[in-house]
Amino acid sequence: MHHFRYLQGSLHAENVDLQSLAEQHGTPLYVYSKETIVDHYTRLDQGLSRLDHMICYAVKANSNLAVLSTIAQLGGGFDIVSGGELFRVLRAGGQAAKCTFAGVGKTRDEIEYALKEGIYCFNAESEAELRFIDQIAGEMGLKAPVAVRVNPNVDAKTHAKITTGKSENKFGIDFDRIEEVYEIIAKECPNLEIRGLQMHIGSQLTSVGPFVEAVEKVKPLVQEMKAKYGLQFFSIGGGIGIVYKQSLDSGSQDWWSLEGNESHPLTIQAYADAVVPLLEDLGLRILLEPGRFMVGNAGVLLTKVVYEKRGKAKVFKIVDAAMNDLIRPTLYEGWHQIVPVRSKVGAENELSDVVGPICETGDYLAQNRELPPLNAGDVLAVMSAGAYGFTMASNYNTRTMPAEILVDGTEAYVVRERQTLEDLVRGEHVPPVK
Ligand code: LLP
Repeated sequence: MHHFRYLQGSLHAENVDLQSLAEQHGTPLYVYSKETIVDHYTRLDQGLSRLDHMICYAVKANSNLAVLSTIAQLGGGFDIVSGGELFRVLRAGGQAAKCTFAGVGKTRDEIEYALKEGIYCFNAESEAELRFIDQIAGEMGLKAPVAVRVNPNVDAKTHAKITTGKSENKFGIDFDRIEEVYEIIAKECPNLEIRGLQMHIGSQLTSVGPFVEAVEKVKPLVQEMKAKYGLQFFSIGGGIGIVYKQSLDSGSQDWWSLEGNESHPLTIQAYADAVVPLLEDLGLRILLEPGRFMVGNAGVLLTKVVYEKRGKAKVFKIVDAAMNDLIRPTLYEGWHQIVPVRSKVGAENELSDVVGPICETGDYLAQNRELPPLNAGDVLAVMSAGAYGFTMASNYNTRTMPAEILVDGTEAYVVRERQTLEDLVRGEHVPPVK
């Protein structure tokens, strides 16, 4: 579901024409729709209304200050994975007291920073980490709130690179060791305060089955740990998948109903209907850590066609965005819908690869895609690029990173300036010639 539509033959974000944004700010360009983010947050919040809950947005999906500020204003919390993300949250007006800190490799600096700022909880992923947090909290004369991340060994049925809840993944602590670990905290870690239990089984889940399986498996453990140690919360992680293919017609209606199709039976209603009843009787605060769901459909990457090349086997649309701007297609075989911003109604489609200028065979945004004939200068929109788009961008091939725009109704704000060539060499030094 999102607020991108064709109006009079030109694709708009809310009420702003994407063609004019591309002309004004150049390409590649990320454009976000604020209303889409607000809508997703609100629907999830309403779906969970029967529970005492806190939505901790997974900052890694999109960490632009404007996005974080939007979520902070909605009352959201944040799931962070680095000191850098905590810094961004605070800069955007978010509260440390609503932050959970995930990740297998938290460093001393990060732990000290998070303790000093007073985060809600460390979601710890190993015994070594728990002992280290205990030691640092002791040195600082503080008590550190902790939850243990359980690895429930449940198959999330998603891409291998974004599966996290299987025993062979590096995440969490094995299900059958959890009791022992809580006992160690209680007996041997005087500077830790047990606050919760957490899990996260993977990303881009497209059915409720694995969520239900994981909650059902872990629930008895949560009940037991609550009875023994007085937990405050149970976090069921993130992972709610989004629909990457949607209609963009101006006449259309209830986009949410489109999600309940065969390839994507996961609607927010279906998710809430399945998990809320399982969690209601726990008498705990329930935390969610959605990333992609909150911002994925809310962003597009605009790119301009530079050349068209007709090879023996294929047609290549060579564009000015590349794998350094959006790595999902090549890293996860991620499928992103690609459409011309000025619609080409009636044109005959042909099978094409959309490729960037980077010197790698893996540098593509789409392969074997039906696209109309395009001219140099035509602007394309790579849809649903709001999550894990800009945050995974790099300067590979010494390319500047794109600008980012946030659209709010009829207004468009530059929320990150395009990098300049000078930015690219900032902080680099050449030793003197001897
Ligand atoms: N909580 C934890 C502990 C996580 O590791 C993640 C994502 C989330 C929450 C948020 O998951 P989400 O709701 O966004 O599915 N770059 C990949 C996705 C990596 C996900 C990493 N962890 C992609 O572009 O598909």
